[in-house]
Amino acid sequence: MQVANIEEELAYIEKVKQINENKKLKYYILTMGCQLNENDSEKIAGMLEKMNYVRTKEMKEADLVVFNTCCVRENAEEKLFGKVGEVKKQKEEKGTILAIGGCMMQEEHIIKKLKQSYPYVDIIFGTHTLHKLPCDLYKALKENKKIRNILDIEGQIIEGLPITRDDKTRASVTIMNGCNNFCSYCIVPYVRGRERSRNPKDILEEIKDLAKQGYKEITLLGQNVNSYLRVEKEKQIAFEEYEGVNSFATLLRAVNKIEGIERIRFVSPHPKDFTDDVIEAIKDCEKVCKLIHLPLQAGSTKVLKEMNRKYTKEQYLSLVEKMKNRIPNVVFTTDIIVGFPNETEEDFEDTLDVVRKVKFEQVFMFIYSRRVGTPGDRMENQIPEEIKHKRFDRLKELVESQIEENNQKYIGTTQKVMVEGISKNNPNMLTGRTDSNKVVVFEGDKSLIGTMQELEIISEHKWYLKGSGVWSQISSK
Ligand code: 5AD
Ligand code: SF4
Repeated sequence: MQVANIEEELAYIEKVKQINENKKLKYYILTMGCQLNENDSEKIAGMLEKMNYVRTKEMKEADLVVFNTCCVRENAEEKLFGKVGEVKKQKEEKGTILAIGGCMMQEEHIIKKLKQSYPYVDIIFGTHTLHKLPCDLYKALKENKKIRNILDIEGQIIEGLPITRDDKTRASVTIMNGCNNFCSYCIVPYVRGRERSRNPKDILEEIKDLAKQGYKEITLLGQNVNSYLRVEKEKQIAFEEYEGVNSFATLLRAVNKIEGIERIRFVSPHPKDFTDDVIEAIKDCEKVCKLIHLPLQAGSTKVLKEMNRKYTKEQYLSLVEKMKNRIPNVVFTTDIIVGFPNETEEDFEDTLDVVRKVKFEQVFMFIYSRRVGTPGDRMENQIPEEIKHKRFDRLKELVESQIEENNQKYIGTTQKVMVEGISKNNPNMLTGRTDSNKVVVFEGDKSLIGTMQELEIISEHKWYLKGSGVWSQISSK
């Protein structure tokens, strides 16, 4: 696979660093999207900090404001334009530089609107031009230029960007970019381009390095993680096998061997690509959490076909059954869209039926949002907003009742909890997560942060569990 040579671009880091020397400049970054976007923001932060910017949480204080956008659902657009408007005054008063990146910047109609209505934006960069940010910034600072640096969507893999991670124990590692599935509601394949996987060696070296820094939990990220390296194999694009890694299943096994890493998660797999070797790897690898995020999207076979998901209701349910049989104590979370065009009451009942059968730990629920350029947007029989909202509320009610029911089964059990920090709602309590990603709040000393603990679950409170422990440290810090 082609890895871009970015040395030339990164040389601009030094140049900007010199311009900014002794100026005590601050940057503010707002991430609007998914975990992939969050991971990109960590790379943006990494580059900015090398260029003498210090992070601030207050947009008003910033000399450089970065918006990292998402375009999966419509409401993000309104939010972005509102935010861009907010920066105008700040620019006039203190010359703040405004840079906007991410998926939305790969959409033509958005760029047009920005040019027309918000000409003061300094830098626009796409999902594949992150590494050009230092050069763009140089030009904006030195030459007062407006930069539109959006590459076509077939970008190469970028390696070697500096990174400032948001967390000290949990880290995300992108293993592939893009998507080839073209689900008919989804804009992602149009803005993030075709699937390309990172080289096994680059991924494993990154995770080993994270382990050395003390990271305990790794989340492998991609739009379709379980087709890792599939396109490369199909198209005979050269990649170097490393430590036996030539597929997603072998990648899980290799990460599982890395000393210091205690938990492995991955998002998102596609049900159609959930091959037996992946199921076996999840079962065998003790560090891989037995919580699988398995996006359903809709329960009706008819809607699934129109969504271009390539599985039926029955295939989804039998995949869940197969995993439940093969992997002891496996549990699931999912994504569901309500109100896709043509969805009838009966179709919606199918969605509720799957939810009742699988008993998900968590359901991420979305109201269908029309995306310009996707087949879903061109379909007739769009569902009226009112019906969409009513269905959403019914689904929510079912999901919440199931969560409460599910939570009951934790009471009295002992759970392995990764201690993440001090509880936001009660500074005297600590918070962490179980393998199944449930939040557990408990009393304990701050020195436990960053360690894995065994806790007894004593009560459930819908969105979190309460735990109690005798401090037997499972892992050291
Ligand atoms: N409308 C609503 N939800 C969407 N998603 C993706 N595209 C849309 C859309 N147009 C949801 C899917 C996906 C999640 C990340 O966002 O459920 O899995
Ligand atoms: Fe979008 Fe479907 Fe690709 Fe996921 S698999 S990014 S929903 S097109």
